[in-house]
Amino acid sequence: MIHPILLCGGSGTRLWPLSRKSYPKQFVPLVGDETLFQASARRLSGPSFAPPVILTNADFRFIVTEQLAAAGIDPGAVLIEPSGRNTAPAVLAAALWLERSDPEAMMLVAPSDHVIPDAGAFRAAVEAGMAAARAGRIVTFGISPDRPETGYGYLELDAAPNGEAAPLRRFVEKPDRATAEAMLAEGRFLWNAGVFLFSVRAILDAFRTHAPELVPGAAEAVERARPDLGFLRLDPAAWDGLPDVSIDYAVMEKSDALSVVPFAGGWSDLGGWDAVWRETGPDADGVASSGETTAIECRDTLLRSEDPGIELVGIGLRNVIAIATPDAVLVADSSCAQQVKEAVAALKAKG
Ligand code: GDD
Ligand code: MG
Repeated sequence: MIHPILLCGGSGTRLWPLSRKSYPKQFVPLVGDETLFQASARRLSGPSFAPPVILTNADFRFIVTEQLAAAGIDPGAVLIEPSGRNTAPAVLAAALWLERSDPEAMMLVAPSDHVIPDAGAFRAAVEAGMAAARAGRIVTFGISPDRPETGYGYLELDAAPNGEAAPLRRFVEKPDRATAEAMLAEGRFLWNAGVFLFSVRAILDAFRTHAPELVPGAAEAVERARPDLGFLRLDPAAWDGLPDVSIDYAVMEKSDALSVVPFAGGWSDLGGWDAVWRETGPDADGVASSGETTAIECRDTLLRSEDPGIELVGIGLRNVIAIATPDAVLVADSSCAQQVKEAVAALKAKG
């Protein structure tokens, strides 16, 4: 049995005005009818999987249980982090919690805000990584890069990937632009999909070796965790003293026990409205739309109305992103999709 560990405590701002601090992108039906979180939970259900363990914060706890119930999925547990400490403490807490009932357990850590249309291909990749994970390796999943993205981790292979699980030479988290360009040109690098497969034993060993400063606080937070209405609240006094660090920096960049399974199925982390445009299936003119919209002589444009009461009409648009919600409208050139983050910061500063 593999225990899916779903991380859904992040609050992305690049998909504003749809993704909000109080209701981030993983809980929104961005592509298709289900939310990204529901689709992620469903992707990791089936005969090889135990019920998912969810890690989130107090603000999202009822969204999590409502969306799982609506999808017909029973959670194994919902662990509540008293404050956001990023993914390293969250994964460590999940491992320590699982260790109590099953020290031999296998864990599949996954983000809840990605689009992976072919769930079967994804589960096959997980299966392909199981032998290495059982042997104590930390298994990553690699995506063929097509641009020098600086927001991802990069996986360096010894040779060009051939579709099999292979040992990893190096893990480079979020390189600068020049390094990303050099790695892309090299041809031996894959993007880290953000999904990890390992045994409880292997990841706890890795934390003890590479990030020992996290272990006592996380262990205490799990030991003193308090059940509350079906949730498990990690102890705030122990948790709040933990550093804010991602598992990529805390463990992956330092470990020499990494393997990679290349994943050739579609994958997107929906890192901006340009990615949503791609995943929404633009028509022959490059127009992608959802909700009450009308496009006249538009090209390469995303139109979304998130309110049935708002009719959104585009005429003669080129490379435009237009998102209408009941209380905010975004209109942007699609080459500026990443600057939505800056807009959110500016709005915040305005109060
Ligand atoms: N429970 C919990 N608590 N979840 C969190 C927290 C937290 O404090 N912080 C982030 N998450 C969740 C996010 O909601 C997301 O589902 C996942 O953990 C990954 O966090 P991100 O903040 O989105 O990471 P990233 O996108 O910058 O980088 C990671 O993903 C890339 C692929 O999308 C890294 O693993 C990169 O190496 C990778 O390429
Ligand atoms: Mg992400």
